[in-house]
Amino acid sequence: MAVAIPRRFISLPDLAEARGVAPAKYTQGLGAIEMAVADPSEDTVSLAAEAGRRALAAAQLDPDQLGLLVVGTETGVDHSKPVASFVHGLLELPRAMRVYDTQHACYGGTAGLAAAVEWIASGAAAGRSALVICSDIARYGLGTAGEPTQGAGAVAMVVTADPAMLAIDVGISGASSTHVHDFWRPLGHRVAEVDGHYSVQCYLDALAGAYRGWKDRAGVTSEQLARICYHVPFCKMAKKAHAQVWRCDLDDRQHGDPLATWDAAAEELAAARAFDTQVAPSLLACSRVGNIYTGSLYLALASLLDHDRTLAGQRIGLFSYGSGCTSEFFSGVVGRRVQDRIEALDLGGVLAAREQITIAEYEQIMAEVSPQPDSARPGFAFTGVRDHRRQYARS
Ligand code: CAA
Repeated sequence: MAVAIPRRFISLPDLAEARGVAPAKYTQGLGAIEMAVADPSEDTVSLAAEAGRRALAAAQLDPDQLGLLVVGTETGVDHSKPVASFVHGLLELPRAMRVYDTQHACYGGTAGLAAAVEWIASGAAAGRSALVICSDIARYGLGTAGEPTQGAGAVAMVVTADPAMLAIDVGISGASSTHVHDFWRPLGHRVAEVDGHYSVQCYLDALAGAYRGWKDRAGVTSEQLARICYHVPFCKMAKKAHAQVWRCDLDDRQHGDPLATWDAAAEELAAARAFDTQVAPSLLACSRVGNIYTGSLYLALASLLDHDRTLAGQRIGLFSYGSGCTSEFFSGVVGRRVQDRIEALDLGGVLAAREQITIAEYEQIMAEVSPQPDSARPGFAFTGVRDHRRQYARS
């Protein structure tokens, strides 16, 4: 895995002050501490290419061994040409491979990952590997309820038959999908439309269905998972999600034994304790970057593996949610070589390399449309449009 995030961020208490909101609403109510701010030079392509470059370097993979490149995104840069196509060119990857984007809101990256895993497991890959990248710029607009839940970033994953970090349990997953208008972005709109509180309920309903589907296939419950990573639109959502999973388990047990009685207060306390152990470590990076849509679940995974170095050989759960909506609960076993890869990922270094800006500077960046790349900063950057063709440079 590798992570690429914008070079700038704001502090959420600063944003709260500027909006006349109690800082605790953002820091405790939503669980957000900082938020990534992407300028126009840091678009979905440049972030994806940088994450992809870092992931290939960390895995020391010869690009000729790749047979598949998938980018999951809901903030592409063209109605026809996929982000993956730009990335394919910028990373100078071989011609003999499949290259495409996958889209279903924040689930798009998981769709790409599932395609890659199943391609390899089926034998069709014939020994080749896949590069899956989740990349997005999450925007709701200034002064909206969604503003403190914005963010931007990309997570790239090299998928092989011999995984170093996580061996996914192929075929053991549960899915849940419904046609709802909880979050969407009409063609031509720069920011998303969202029915915020309804979207939270849609997420929780989908989670209940997907989790129960996984449970049926896996034959175990959440308590047998060492940790669980959720899609993280804002950190408090993961807490609501874990309480939902706990409720599902409780309801299912009650269903199996209608005469049993439960101490609701004790169950709530147990759920909160389980959250601290099973989920909280996955939220450290998310609380400092914000929502990165397709990559949020995988940023949570990176954060978990970075923070908790004792998980090798243990099974963890993952929940991916895409508004609209579709969702999947799946699981995997942490690999024995996770330590080396997490050191190469250097999440702490990636976060520390950023610069904090003021709310006035953030508002100015949000209004900008022309890229002003910083040539002193290593990485890919969008430099402008020439003859209707987007141009990129690497410094
Ligand atoms: N101190 C501490 N806590 C406070 C507080 C204070 N002074 N003031 C409020 N709070 C708490 C509230 O009690 C609430 O906590 P609970 O949810 O536990 O009750 C929390 O802060 C948020 O307060 P509100 O519900 O009043 O906040 P809001 O109405 O302004 O907006 C939101 C919250 C709906 C999540 C909004 O930020 C939003 O629309 N975000 C974008 C949509 C989103 O992220 N949806 C998530 C599910 S959809 C999905 O997952 C896909 C995706 O990526 C978009």
